[in-house]
Amino acid sequence: MIKTEYMGLELKSPVIIASSPLTQNIVSLKKCQEAGCGAVVLKSIFEEQIEADVQKVMSDNAEYLQHSSADDFYASTSRDYYIDRYMKLLTEAKKELDIPIIASVCAKSYDSWIDYAERFAKCGADAIELDYYPISSNAAVKGEDVDKTLLRFAEKARNAIDVPLSLKIGYKYSSLANIISSLDKIGINGLVLFNRFFRPDIDIDKIEMSSANPASSSDEYGEALRWIGLMSGEVKMDLVGNTGIHDGSTVVKMILSGAPAVEICTAVIKKGFPVVGTINSFVEDWMKAHGFSSISDFKGMLSQEHMKDGWKWERTQFLKTIN
Ligand SMILES: Cc1cc2nc3c(=O)[nH]c(=O)nc-3n(C[C@H](O)[C@H](O)[C@H](O)COP(=O)(O)O)c2cc1C
Repeated sequence: MIKTEYMGLELKSPVIIASSPLTQNIVSLKKCQEAGCGAVVLKSIFEEQIEADVQKVMSDNAEYLQHSSADDFYASTSRDYYIDRYMKLLTEAKKELDIPIIASVCAKSYDSWIDYAERFAKCGADAIELDYYPISSNAAVKGEDVDKTLLRFAEKARNAIDVPLSLKIGYKYSSLANIISSLDKIGINGLVLFNRFFRPDIDIDKIEMSSANPASSSDEYGEALRWIGLMSGEVKMDLVGNTGIHDGSTVVKMILSGAPAVEICTAVIKKGFPVVGTINSFVEDWMKAHGFSSISDFKGMLSQEHMKDGWKWERTQFLKTIN
């Protein structure tokens, strides 16, 4: 009853476990499947982390690595170690699980990540999710250049990868509608709206930088709901909800706005794996109560395209609320 389709992949539930520590080893991945999720996104391989680790090992061993050719050899061997470890997890997950496995790459450069993603696809990944995380802190770079970089990145990815391809992005673009429709034209199959990026904080006792709590709260889903509602009827690609989706009622809202599925992480970290079954049962009971027999019966029913008063997605009705 609650099966759905995401990027052409058949999912037995609209609940996908998002890239996180929940998806970083085979024991936890099996728990995700047993809990009843529709798919998993493996913990990302972070190009920046690999580079940092490689640099550290190389500086620790500087006295043995005096030739630049030794440097190159060592750096690429170390990179291969991380990629091989990721491919081992992917291969094991493909063997042990029967739900779709999505590999996730958090890349900072154009070229090397293509190598990662292509290798993961060959290893059996059912799809690739690319994290795109620009921090536009360079005052010399114009907004339109930030957009162009994202679109070039997406185009290069689309040309290089044959399996379904999704991008996980944030919402801080001057025209998100334009970005979403441009990514659709490039042929990206899915967009995860929205990533909850690292948030900086400051520890005032130690007087140093720290990181804020990575867990979301249950009132953070509004931005994803708005943009899925606004754009799902206008694009071919699937728009998936992410951030602040903690319960079944929010999953139903996402589907009504046009998402075929959602990605969740904090809810499982806070409430444990059984929350996936609780969400599945809620969606099923809600569907029965409203006379729907499949997700496609109500997916996008309240998207802007399908509503007579679709303007409501754009106006927040503050006046009405205040009155
Ligand atoms: C501890 C932790 C680690 C995460 N690691 C990754 C990661 O490696 N790659 C990624 O794309 N997202 C990562 N995320 C973000 C989640 O996939 C998700 O986008 C975010 O938590 C918002 O969803 P939620 O509100 O359901 O938690 C991480 C989140 C947490 C809490």
